Amino acid sequence: MTSSISYNLNTRCFFLRLLNSFYALRILANGEVVHVSSGVLSELPATDDDLPLPSLLDLDSYEDANFAWEQQARRWELPAFGDITYHDCAVKANVVTPEEGEEPIRDLRLRYVNYEIRMDSEPGLSTDECHLNNPARETLRLHLRDEFFNIHVFLNYRLTPEHDIIERWLEIENHSQCSLIIDSLAFGTVHFPEGRYELMRPSGTWAREFVPVKQTLEQGKTVIDSSGLNTGHSTNPFYLLSKVDSATEESGEVFFGALAYSGSWGFRFEVLPTGPVRVHGGYDPSDFSLAVQPGDSHTTPAFVHGCAVDGRGGASRRLHRFIRQYVLPEPRHGKYRPVLYNSWEAVYFEMSFESQMELARKAAAIGIELFCVDDGWFGGRRSDNAGLGDWWVSPQVFPGGLTPLIDEVKQLGMRFGLWVEPEMVNPDSDLYRANPDWVLHFPHRPRTEVRNQLILDFGRPEVVEYIWSSLDRLVQDLDITFFKWDMNRYAIEPGSPAGQSIWLRHVEGVYSIMDRLRAAHPHLEIQSCSGGGGRVDLGILQRTDQVWTSDNTDAIDRVPIQEGFSLAYPPRIMESWVTHEVNHQTGRRTSLELRFDTAMRGALGIGTSLNKLSQDELNSYSQKISFYKKIRPIVQDGDLHRLESTEYVSTWLMTAADRRSAVYSTIVTGQPQGIFRAPNRLPGLIPTGMYDAVDETGTVVGQWSGFQLATIGLPGDTRAGGGGCAIRSRTLLLERAD
Ligand code: DGJ
Repeated sequence: MTSSISYNLNTRCFFLRLLNSFYALRILANGEVVHVSSGVLSELPATDDDLPLPSLLDLDSYEDANFAWEQQARRWELPAFGDITYHDCAVKANVVTPEEGEEPIRDLRLRYVNYEIRMDSEPGLSTDECHLNNPARETLRLHLRDEFFNIHVFLNYRLTPEHDIIERWLEIENHSQCSLIIDSLAFGTVHFPEGRYELMRPSGTWAREFVPVKQTLEQGKTVIDSSGLNTGHSTNPFYLLSKVDSATEESGEVFFGALAYSGSWGFRFEVLPTGPVRVHGGYDPSDFSLAVQPGDSHTTPAFVHGCAVDGRGGASRRLHRFIRQYVLPEPRHGKYRPVLYNSWEAVYFEMSFESQMELARKAAAIGIELFCVDDGWFGGRRSDNAGLGDWWVSPQVFPGGLTPLIDEVKQLGMRFGLWVEPEMVNPDSDLYRANPDWVLHFPHRPRTEVRNQLILDFGRPEVVEYIWSSLDRLVQDLDITFFKWDMNRYAIEPGSPAGQSIWLRHVEGVYSIMDRLRAAHPHLEIQSCSGGGGRVDLGILQRTDQVWTSDNTDAIDRVPIQEGFSLAYPPRIMESWVTHEVNHQTGRRTSLELRFDTAMRGALGIGTSLNKLSQDELNSYSQKISFYKKIRPIVQDGDLHRLESTEYVSTWLMTAADRRSAVYSTIVTGQPQGIFRAPNRLPGLIPTGMYDAVDETGTVVGQWSGFQLATIGLPGDTRAGGGGCAIRSRTLLLERAD
C-alpha cells in the first residue's frame, strides 16, 4: 500500500496527501513544529518521488518574510503558552514543581523528538465498543518533549484520504516529578492559507437550532463556543471557511472542521496582525482545569478537519460520507433508519396503557417500524415536576407493567423504544430524597432548577454507576431496542468533588454509560436528544444511531434548521417528524404534503395523535410512508446537493452512488409575487440515461434524459411566475427508465 504520509529528510518536511488536498508541516532546526501550507491541490503528484518537496528546500526564506519583524507570525502546529507566543495557544499549563514555595511554571517548551507512522491510533474518549467497525487509518504521530521537564506531547494526524479528512488530537504524558495543571487545551490547531475569510457556521437557539450564518473573520479573535455542559443549541461545533466571495455551493476551496466532543467546547479563530489565520479547537477554556499527575496521561478527542475543492456542497458531502463510514456505529437492525413513531406530541404527560396500545395499533397499520414511548412512563412522572431519576415503570400508568404493551408492539411487527433522561433528577423523586448530594451544587449556594430539574454529578463515580445499572436493568427486564436519550438543561452552579474537571468528567460519564449499554446489549440503539438538537456532534455520533434535530416540528421553520444541519451532518441521522396540521410549537397550519416533504429529507418519524385521525387521513399517511420507504436508501445513503437555499426556496437533490436514481425535493415557503427563478439543473445523473419521475402515488409524472436534467433542469414544478407566494412542495423519485 502506498503511504499518504511522506517525510523528506532534507527539508524535514511532512507531506500529508489526501485525494484532492494536502497538509504540510515541517520541523525547524530548533525542534519547533511549524505549518508549511495546506489546501486543495487539483493535480497531486502520482508518486512520492514526484512530490514537490525538493522545491521547498529553501523554506527558511519563506519564513523570513514575516518572521524578521514579528516572530509571532510563526505558524506553530502546537502553540503553547509561554515559550515565545503571547497570542492565543493550543495549550496553557502550569508545571507545579515539588520544590516548596516555587511558583508554578506557566511555560511549556515543546520540541520535536521523533515521529512514527501508525495504523492503529485512536483519539481519546473513544472505546473499543464504539469503534469496533472502524478500520484503522494511517496516522502520523509526532513526539514532542518539554526542553526541561520530562513532559511529552504527541501530535496525531490520522488520515482518511478518500474524504480529504484529517483527524487531529493530542496525547499528553507526564513522566516528570511535577504536577501538570492544564488550564486550556485544544485538540489541535489548524492553519489556513493567508487571506480574508468568510466563516459559515450554525447559530440559533432552542427550537431554531443549526440555522446557518456567515461572518467575515477580521484581524483578532473570533470565538464560537458553548459552555453549558453539553454541545448546545445556540451553535454547534462545526464550521465551513472560504476566502471572501470565493466559494459557492458547488465550487471553490472550502475548509471545514468539526469536534468529536459532546461537552463545553470552543473554536477560537485568530487572524494575526502579520497575516496568519488559524483556529484552535477543543475544550472550552472558560472554567477548565485538568490535572495530569506524575505518571498520568491524557488523550483529547479529535478535531476533524479537511478541505473541499467543490464548494460548500463538497465539504458537506465529505463530512456526510466520513460520518456514515467511519463515525456512526454499524446499524443493528437493518441497513436503514426505521420509520419511527413517538408519543410525545400525541399525549404529552397524559399517558396510559390504553392510549399507547391504540397508538401502537394505528402506527403499525400505517407502516411504522419503531414505536417509541416518550416521557411520562416512569416513577412519579405525571408532569415535568417530578420523577426524573426513578427509572422504574409507573404502576399508576402501566398497572400490568410495560411488558403487555411491548408484546403487542412486537406482535404488530414493530420494535419498541423508550425515552430516558439519565443525567437529570427532579428534587421530587425518590433518588433525590435518598441522595441529595448527588447533584451539581456548591455548598451554601442555591440549587437553581430549570424545568424543575437538577443535574446529577457525574464527577462522582457512584452516580455514574447507579445510572448505568438503572438503565441496564431496564434493558435486561424489558425488550427495549431503542433509547431516546434526552438532556433538557444546561449547567450553572457546577460544584462537584471533581472541581473544574467536571465538564470533562460529565462527558466521560455519559460516553461510558452509552458504550457499556451498547456493549452489553447488542440489539440496543440510541437516539441523542437534548431538548431537540442540543447534543449533535461527532463524539455522540460514535455511540448513537440518530439524533433529534429540533423540538420545533413546524414544517416551515424546520427548513432552515435542516439546511443548517445538513452542512455537516448526513440526512440519515436527522430525525424529522410529521406532526399535527396545526403545529403545537408555532400554531401554524400546514398541509400534510408539506409536512411529509420536509420530514422525508431525513429519517422519517411520525408524532401525530393517530387516535384522532380519520381513516382517510391514515390512508394518506400510509401511502406517504411507503413512498418514503422507496426513497429511503437514497435519502439515507446518497449524496446531497443543495440546489437552492434561499429565504423562501429550498431544493435538494439526493443522488444514489450508482447515479441510476435520485430524490428531488423542493419546498417553497413564501416566495414573493413577481420573483422569477430559473429551474435548477440537476447534477450527478448519467447524461445518456432516461429518468422517470415518480410521485408518491407511484405515478410516472414525466420522463427526461439525465442530459436534459443536468443542462436545463426539471420542467415546471415549483418555479415562480403565476404561482406567486403559495406555499408548495414536492418530492419525486427519479429512476432510470432504461
Ligand atoms: C424534550 C424532547 O426534545 C422532546 O421531544 C420530548 O422528549 C420532551 N423532552 C419530553 O420531556
